[in-house]
Amino acid sequence: MSTPTHAGQRVSLTRFLIEAQREHGHINADLRLLIEVVARACKRISIAVGKGALGNALGSAGTENVQGETQKKLDVISNEILLEANEWGGHLAALASEEMDHPHPIPHRYPKGGYLLVFDPLDGSSNIDVNISVGTIFSVLRCPEGVTDPVESDFLQAGSRQVAAGYAVYGSSTVLVLTLGYGVYQFTLDREQGSFVLTGSNLTIPADTGEFAINMSNMRHWEPPMKRYIEELLAGRTGPRGRDFNMRWVASMVADVHRILTRGGIFIYPRDMKDPSKPGKLRLMYEANPMAMIVEQAGGAATTGLQRILDVEPGELHQRVPVFLGSRNEVERATRYHLEAAAESAGALA
Ligand code: AHG
Ligand code: MN
Ligand code: MN
Repeated sequence: MSTPTHAGQRVSLTRFLIEAQREHGHINADLRLLIEVVARACKRISIAVGKGALGNALGSAGTENVQGETQKKLDVISNEILLEANEWGGHLAALASEEMDHPHPIPHRYPKGGYLLVFDPLDGSSNIDVNISVGTIFSVLRCPEGVTDPVESDFLQAGSRQVAAGYAVYGSSTVLVLTLGYGVYQFTLDREQGSFVLTGSNLTIPADTGEFAINMSNMRHWEPPMKRYIEELLAGRTGPRGRDFNMRWVASMVADVHRILTRGGIFIYPRDMKDPSKPGKLRLMYEANPMAMIVEQAGGAATTGLQRILDVEPGELHQRVPVFLGSRNEVERATRYHLEAAAESAGALA
């Protein structure tokens, strides 16, 4: 991918945002500040992740988050970096994170703004200790009109109401992907300069793909339409799809989604019967929604298998949903299989 330039000059994230504000009127000063602050925090997280064992930050923090998952030291560090960076700027009314049971208010000593920020500070944390890509995912919502001290219910807005969404991948390079609701843009961290530089504009996901991403070890727990879809892919050239498919699974959603944004693919974390009380593994507010907005903005599709992710009305902050996203034709096919199965079982009950 070539680096887009303005009259031969590289475009920094700061310049991109100022022009989005000044020339196009796409964003206001507070939203620009918010994105800059999140990007700065991601830079700090990238440095912390990049130190590896030298930073004495690998391994478990010895604590659990609200979802009963063991927190890694870097989960906690990344959460603190994002909180600290975002508290004082005056652009936020409150924050919420995977790593905090309840929303985090802006301390009274600071001014408050009109936005809510929700994030997964470090996604793919099982990969931290083994030097595989991890990332940060974030979603920006408006604080409801007239609310000065937002509580959990103020965050419970459908993903279609997101103002902006993005993620950073801390991989062989650090990349920030951003949508403000008019296309998807990619920035690469120039480590010498310390700034994010525009390296991709209007990213698009091809409608067709020969690559899928799913944790196959759960296959025995899947529902019949899920098994049907994957079995057809596995059957390859001589099966009903008439072609071979390839599989990739990083176990960091950010890295899997970034590959799909780069060259297409379908990512699935379905509902399964391993723990029937959980409707999927991934969290709606800070994993599924921001990724769904980015994928849709790039021309792809994102569903729960039964409905558009961005239309799901959240019931709680840490709610989980099944996730199907990526190349449109594959997501639509997998969704159709689920809808057909749901209609059949509804018919059988009637
Ligand atoms: P997190 O590290 O924020 O808890 O998220 C991990 C998620 C996601 O990034 C990834 O796609 C999935 O968990 C991997 O799950 P499995 O280990 O079940 O494959
Ligand atoms: Mn995650
Ligand atoms: Mn996480």
